[in-house]
Amino acid sequence: MQDKVVVVTGAGNGIGRGCALRLAEEGADGVVVADLSLDRARRVAGEIVEAGGRASAYAADVRDAQACEDMAQHAVDRFGRLDVLVAAAGINGQGASGDEHDGVTAGLTFSSRVWSNILDVNLTGLMQSDRAVARRMIAGGGGAIVNIASMCSAWASAGSTPYNVSKAAAWMLTKSLAIELAPHGIRVNAVGPGFIDETGMTEKTRADDHAFRAATDRILMGRFGRPREVADAVLFLASDESSYFTGSILYPDGGFNAPSR
Ligand SMILES: NC(=O)c1ccc[n+]([C@@H]2O[C@H](COP(=O)([O-])OP(=O)(O)OC[C@H]3O[C@@H](n4cnc5c(N)ncnc54)[C@H](O)[C@@H]3O)[C@@H](O)[C@H]2O)c1
Repeated sequence: MQDKVVVVTGAGNGIGRGCALRLAEEGADGVVVADLSLDRARRVAGEIVEAGGRASAYAADVRDAQACEDMAQHAVDRFGRLDVLVAAAGINGQGASGDEHDGVTAGLTFSSRVWSNILDVNLTGLMQSDRAVARRMIAGGGGAIVNIASMCSAWASAGSTPYNVSKAAAWMLTKSLAIELAPHGIRVNAVGPGFIDETGMTEKTRADDHAFRAATDRILMGRFGRPREVADAVLFLASDESSYFTGSILYPDGGFNAPSR
């Protein structure tokens, strides 16, 4: 990551935080730690600076197209360039967006508001982040975009139709943008994690014995993954080590999807 300037969305917690820390550890020249919550972003940027890296906390709601443009421009203004985007901002069915989300995504009882809210963040927000960053990368002569999708991009899970659909779309967005951006020297790939610990999204599953056992029973490695294990896959796709990868997806899922059922 040396000499590379990185933007990470949703970097205030969980997988995004893990990616921001990991890319900084690998010598990124500057990391824009972007999140809906400025407090969270500041905390993570502080961790990077404390470890000797360069970071800038930035408040950006990916649902807001102009905020995404401003976030990408901030990277260029602050660090002089923009080479890598890790787009990790996302919500699931567990109420991550507070008042706008009643937490119901099971069956057909979820509201249209919940459906739109999940799609707004996980799909429209992803597209707006990718688009804003790609515009600066085109001007700068290339780059690498890594979208955080999910194993749900390819395998449906019960009780989360809106989330599954948003993640399948995130994977299609990745492939479509890989086509559009290849002529500009921009590679676009995705990482589709399985169950990952130390994240807001798996808190409820962790706390529910039955759900936790059902999940870990199916994971060949018998445990949830760690944000750093996802960040290692992201690091590969963000770096020149993956120079022949575009339109691909890696699934750090502990073998969850290896069995045919
Ligand atoms: N945790 C898992 O097991 C898992 C598995 C597969 C995929 N993912 C994906 O990984 C990504 C990160 O999830 P996580 O589990 O680390 O979640 P998390 O809740 O721990 O962190 C998500 C971060 O995104 C931020 N965020 C939420 N809405 C935002 C918005 N509109 N604009 C900007 N930032 C926003 C939150 O403030 C938070 O800091 C998501 O895209 C998620 O779908 C997670």
